[in-house]
Amino acid sequence: MAARLALAAVGPRCSVAVRQLATQRGLWLRLGQCAAAAATAGAARPARRGFSSSTVAQAAAAATATLSRDEVITSHPYNNVTDSIFQKIGTNLHQQPSHPLGILKGAIYDYFDQQHPGTFTTFDGLAPVVAAKANFDEILIPADHVSRSPNDTYYVDPDTVLRCHTSAHQAEILRQGVRAFLVTGDVYRRDSIDATHYPVFHQMEGVRVFNPADWQAAGMDATQFAETELKRTLEGLAQHLFGAVEMRWVDAYFPFTEPSYELEIFFNGEWLEVLGCGVMQQPILDKNLGPGQKAWAFGLGLERLAMVLFDIPDIRLFWTADQRFLKQFKAGDLTTKFKSYSKYPPCYKDVAFWISDAFTENNLCEIVRSVAGDLAEEVKLIDNFTHPKTGRTSHCYRIAYRSMDRSLTDEEINALQDEVRSTISDKLKVELR
Ligand code: PHE
Repeated sequence: MAARLALAAVGPRCSVAVRQLATQRGLWLRLGQCAAAAATAGAARPARRGFSSSTVAQAAAAATATLSRDEVITSHPYNNVTDSIFQKIGTNLHQQPSHPLGILKGAIYDYFDQQHPGTFTTFDGLAPVVAAKANFDEILIPADHVSRSPNDTYYVDPDTVLRCHTSAHQAEILRQGVRAFLVTGDVYRRDSIDATHYPVFHQMEGVRVFNPADWQAAGMDATQFAETELKRTLEGLAQHLFGAVEMRWVDAYFPFTEPSYELEIFFNGEWLEVLGCGVMQQPILDKNLGPGQKAWAFGLGLERLAMVLFDIPDIRLFWTADQRFLKQFKAGDLTTKFKSYSKYPPCYKDVAFWISDAFTENNLCEIVRSVAGDLAEEVKLIDNFTHPKTGRTSHCYRIAYRSMDRSLTDEEINALQDEVRSTISDKLKVELR
């Protein structure tokens, strides 16, 4: 399980279904940042600046340069990027205008453009390979923070990661002098396997900087002003996406904002977190933009919102090439409700083993993903016991295999399960039972 940092301070939640959505990669927090990193990895090109005309200033996006396999899967012992992860890089689902993620991105751009024409510069092609410094240090993520663990984050080498959040780009963009921006991109986190977790997902980051004149004119202190502005802006965004909904603010913790909040909306009978945000920590601004400014920042998970808005039941569907999925969505249309085109039965297989101290569930899930790819629907611990005499601990995991698009044969599943078992015993230093 990934250690989720940020959401730690969140208030009460309701059903299990909501809880799963709530902890989905969208909001929480682990990590962060990016700019210099890209250079390290030879990945990013400098962003073009400036806007085009009246719409949300059109992308100053640096194109995701093509990254070779050797640049991402290095021979450094710290490297933990798998082929199946490498293959996702450059897909950029959020750049397809009629993909649910592209539709949602477009709707959020529209909102900011209507509210503040030409104010926000958008970036949606920054390369996901970034400096660890950008992902963590520059946004004040402490040296011992759990999100830095290679159990949670993909490392190219000790100084370079696959960004685990779009906050990785805050500092670099501020250094370019951009005072209001939206960054959309794919982010990567090692994690468990279920209907709402996938090791690659998409976030949008928003930042807006204010001057002393802004808060003085409003007769408020700087933090109070930024907070008021932030809440007003995000309540408007939630309304733009979900219509007239009930909302509430919940105190949260992120290393890069203070105060920090999550916004929850009451949707389909449940409270649902939609984003994390806060007033940016002053040193990030002072250091990268200059003193005397104040800013807000938010980050939201596009899959999580799209699953709710479009009724998409499984996060793997975003990656399918099946036209029965893709054809249901239209650029610019937020009103589609996804209709399941088929529900093929899952097939369950159990695997039990004696664990060692080094065992982690994320490592197990990485193996299942690399063998079974998107056919792995869920990996769930169903038994956990410690032998009273030997003190050894045994885990039994149930793996659900299911294709979104077709029926699977017994032979196919058995072959996958055999390979999962042998890879577990080779790579995880556990003893199969
Ligand atoms: N980066 C945070 C996450 O991944 C979200 C966030 C962004 C929170 C900006 C506050 C400000 O969960």
